Amino acid sequence: METSIPVYPTILIVDDVPINLKVVRAHLEPSGYKVLEAGSGQEALIQAEQRPDLILMDIMMPDMDGMETCRRLKANPHTAEIPVIFLSALTDPESRTGALAIGGVDFIIKPFDEEELIARVKIHLTLRYQKIQLEKYAAELEQMVEDRTRQLIHADRLATLGTFSAGMAHEINNPNTFIAGNIQVLQLFWKTAGPILKKHIAEDSTGRLINTVNEIEDIFDDMLEGSRRITSIVNSLKTYARQGGVNKETIQLLSIIDDALKLLQHRLKKGISIHLDVPLALSVFCDYQSLSQVFVNLLNNAIDAVDEQTGKIDIIAKGINDKIHIRIQDNGSGIPETIADNIFDPFFTTKGKARGTGLGLSIVKGIVEKHNGSISLVPTTKKGASFLIILPFTTHK
Ligand SMILES: Nc1ncnc2c1ncn2[C@@H]1O[C@H](COP(=O)(O)OP(=O)(O)OP(=O)(O)O)[C@@H](O)[C@H]1O
Ligand SMILES: [Mg+2]
Repeated sequence: METSIPVYPTILIVDDVPINLKVVRAHLEPSGYKVLEAGSGQEALIQAEQRPDLILMDIMMPDMDGMETCRRLKANPHTAEIPVIFLSALTDPESRTGALAIGGVDFIIKPFDEEELIARVKIHLTLRYQKIQLEKYAAELEQMVEDRTRQLIHADRLATLGTFSAGMAHEINNPNTFIAGNIQVLQLFWKTAGPILKKHIAEDSTGRLINTVNEIEDIFDDMLEGSRRITSIVNSLKTYARQGGVNKETIQLLSIIDDALKLLQHRLKKGISIHLDVPLALSVFCDYQSLSQVFVNLLNNAIDAVDEQTGKIDIIAKGINDKIHIRIQDNGSGIPETIADNIFDPFFTTKGKARGTGLGLSIVKGIVEKHNGSISLVPTTKKGASFLIILPFTTHK
């Protein structure tokens, strides 16, 4: 919809007397208006479909009078917004109030003064477009408030989580180190005690001892595994709390990605192929630890998503103007549209609490943004997921 007055506004004149149409047209055209004509109410309804900017309507017409025509125009959502000015020889107050009550914006008595007609037409056109402008601003303002509120809620949640994580990570780390250390002591102890117990297994007639002895090594392993998992979550939380780091330096992008791939080598052994296209000349001014974490997390997700035999992960970087575009794309299970808005939220995971913390992508987003960059999930027609990171450009020396 137009939001400012068109250069040549269109006015529809409705009157059953041809000479009246001629006169009004003669007034309007020299002032720069395009004119449409209708000789009856019925015809007016048809012409109004062209959405003129304003309608000048006679009241007394055979078949369908101006009032009825106006009522019908207002009942049709397509034409309801067009202002209708009545032009009539009727001077009684009832006709005037009646005309305004059914949605007319003004009432001009015939015979009318040419200048007055033009002035009123102009006022109502201005009012109409000011109203449209205001509605547009109001909608924009509403959207801005909504966006800002959403951002604030998100920022607040992240800030709280950051502070909370830093404190909690410390609290959990101490007892966890203690638990892991003691399990290892128990494992050592078992190396001595195990064989002795095994010798006496025959003395236990219930048969329970043999079960316990056989299980005990697995129990120790499970406990250690659980403790390692706590360490990994705590480390993620710590990274979360100190996203972005402070030790920034200029580092070759390729070396950061290479290091991340080395860290993940144990997961890449099988049939997963990596296609790397990262120009040597691209460098980023970054905190090395944090940016490595970005690639480790994204690649970990890609490895989780692809098939072990046919998996393919592309890492493609390009310098575009003053930015570096890095695309990480896999041919895995992809991300359904229904969860696309949630994947960057802290603790959002589809991997089940035993396999994913759901912190990976929120850490990635936090780090990239601390580096004045952005990350987004890019819609793709291919199978799999595609992420695009945009970072400021640094030339490698
Ligand atoms: N490459 C990908 N392909 C398919 N789904 C993905 C991909 N990357 C992320 N996701 C989806 O986004 C969710 C959130 O990812 P995120 O890295 O934040 O957490 P996670 O991987 O579940 O847990 P964690 O990172 O702690 O292992 C994932 O559970 C998964 O559903
Ligand atoms: Mg992850």
